[in-house]
Parts: sequence; structure tokens; C-alpha cells
Amino acid sequence: MQAENRKTAYITGGTKGIGLGIAQSLLAAGYNVAITGRKLSSAREAALLLSTDETRVLALESDVGNAKAEREAIQKVINKFGKLDVLIANAGVGYFAAIDEMSEDLWNETINTNLTGVFHTVRAGVEEIKRSRGYIITIASLAGTNFFENGAAYNASKYGLVGFTQAIMLDLRKYGVKVTTIMPGSVTSHFNNHIPNSTDAWKIQPEDIGELVVDLLKMNPRALPSKIEIRPAMPPEKNTSPFPKTNQQGNTKI
Ligand SMILES: NC(=O)c1ccc[n+]([C@@H]2O[C@H](COP(=O)([O-])OP(=O)(O)OC[C@H]3O[C@@H](n4cnc5c(N)ncnc54)[C@H](OP(=O)(O)O)[C@@H]3O)[C@@H](O)[C@H]2O)c1
Repeated sequence: MQAENRKTAYITGGTKGIGLGIAQSLLAAGYNVAITGRKLSSAREAALLLSTDETRVLALESDVGNAKAEREAIQKVINKFGKLDVLIANAGVGYFAAIDEMSEDLWNETINTNLTGVFHTVRAGVEEIKRSRGYIITIASLAGTNFFENGAAYNASKYGLVGFTQAIMLDLRKYGVKVTTIMPGSVTSHFNNHIPNSTDAWKIQPEDIGELVVDLLKMNPRALPSKIEIRPAMPPEKNTSPFPKTNQQGNTKI
């Protein structure tokens, strides 16, 4: 298939972890993909890992906290591929501290990236997505429904993101645009400075989220799973999750 006949996906935070896994799955499913990161060098390295076919992959520098940078990144996607069919708002950070120890900087970075950043991305791409009657997927978290100690900033950002995504789903479905929020539990990635290793085998892997995204995109146009929780099927007894140890149910396995 010619690159111009393929559908195009824009993935924020595609340099590693879940975003990179989604990019891999979408490329394999025949999409052109554009990935972003805060540094162009990281985005370029990840793009080379994905494919050496420059007609199908675009590496971009954009901090989602910067609305202008997101608008410019999406314009570059349109300039290269001609359209935008799928927008994956994935970029996110995880900082965990009790409220009496949380700095204003960490609070602001968490909210600006995980919540306001998604607003910037969606606002920058929404008209193109309406034109293509496309799909918007946000990567929230089970932390958007389970709260836990030390999670004030992260929980606030992800609870907010789940609400944001459900509201825009209602705003946009009248245009033929689908919107889904995916809420993963523990996924192997670099989240919270984790270094992926052999003890991560029980977790969801980034390619599992990639497969889920491809399945959503294949779904009959009449059906819309608007909110999806996904968790490890067989968590170990001893918690090695990247999340803090306790949540409100005393259940460490989210
Ligand atoms: N891992 C889990 O267990 C888990 C569970 C539930 C939800 N999530 C969510 O999944 C999403 C992806 O996280 P991950 O687990 O894949 O973590 P990760 O391996 O640390 O990847 C995070 C990605 O986000 C990018 N990023 C961070 N801040 C950014 C910003 N301001 N602007 C643009 N890109 C930015 C990073 O790119 P650069 O560093 O190159 O800038 C990187 O590509 C996050 O929203 C996270 O909250 C993760």
C-alpha cells in the first residue's frame, strides 16, 4: 500500500513504554505513525527502532504541556501524511508523594502533562479528527478509579483525564468520531524511573496495549467501548507494581 493511502496515527510520548508499543502495533497494522517526545533525539532513536522506512514514520519533538508545540507537531503530521485519523494521547509522568511533602513543581508537572497536556493534544488535533471521522484514545490508568496513599497528584490527573475523556466522547460522537479511554494497571515501561527487567513478566506488556488499540480501531463503526479497564491477569502475591503499595481497598494489585 502507498504511504498516502494508509491511515495516520499521532502518538504523544512514543519514545518508549506504552506509546512505543502502540506505535509498533499500529505500524504492523498498516498505519503511518508520528511519535513525539520532549527531545527530538529520543523521538528519532525510537522512530529508527520502529522502521527505517521514513515514508511511514515521523519523529517529532513536542512537550504536551506546550499548546503551541502540540499545534505545530500536528501541522507537521498533516504536512507529511496529508491527514490525521487516530490521535493517541499517551504522554504521562508519575510522581508520588504525600500531600505534606509534595512540591508545587511536581504537582504542576503532573497536572500539566497528564491532564492539561491531553487537552492541548486533543484541542490541536480535533478538527482534523472530525474531518477524517477518526478516533481519539487517551491512556488514563486504573489510578483514575482507584486512589492510593501518595497518589494525590497522579490520582487527580488520571481521575480528571477519565472525566475529560468521557465528556469529549459525548461532544464528538455526533461527528462520527470515536473516543475511548484505556485505564491500564501495571505495565512494563520506564514509568516512575523503572528499568524494565525480567521480574516484569507478569505485567501487561506495551504490545498488549498496542493490540487493544488495533482491536478498537477494527471494531464495527456502530459500537464504542468508551472506557476500558485492563489489568494483569495473574499478578504475583508480592507487589512489584510501579504504583504505591496501598489503595483505598488495601488491594495492592491495580
Ligand atoms: N506503566 C504503567 O504501569 C502505567 C499504568 C497505567 C497508565 N500508564 C500511563 O501510560 C502512559 C505512558 O506511560 P509509560 O508507562 O509508557 O511510561 P514511560 O515508559 O515513562 O513513557 C512515558 C512517555 O511519555 C513521554 N513524555 C513524558 N512527559 C512528556 C511531555 N511533557 N511531553 C511529551 N512527551 C512526554 C516520554 O517521552 P520522553 O521522556 O522522551 O520525553 C515517554 O515517551 C502515561 O500516561 C502513564 O500515566 C502507565
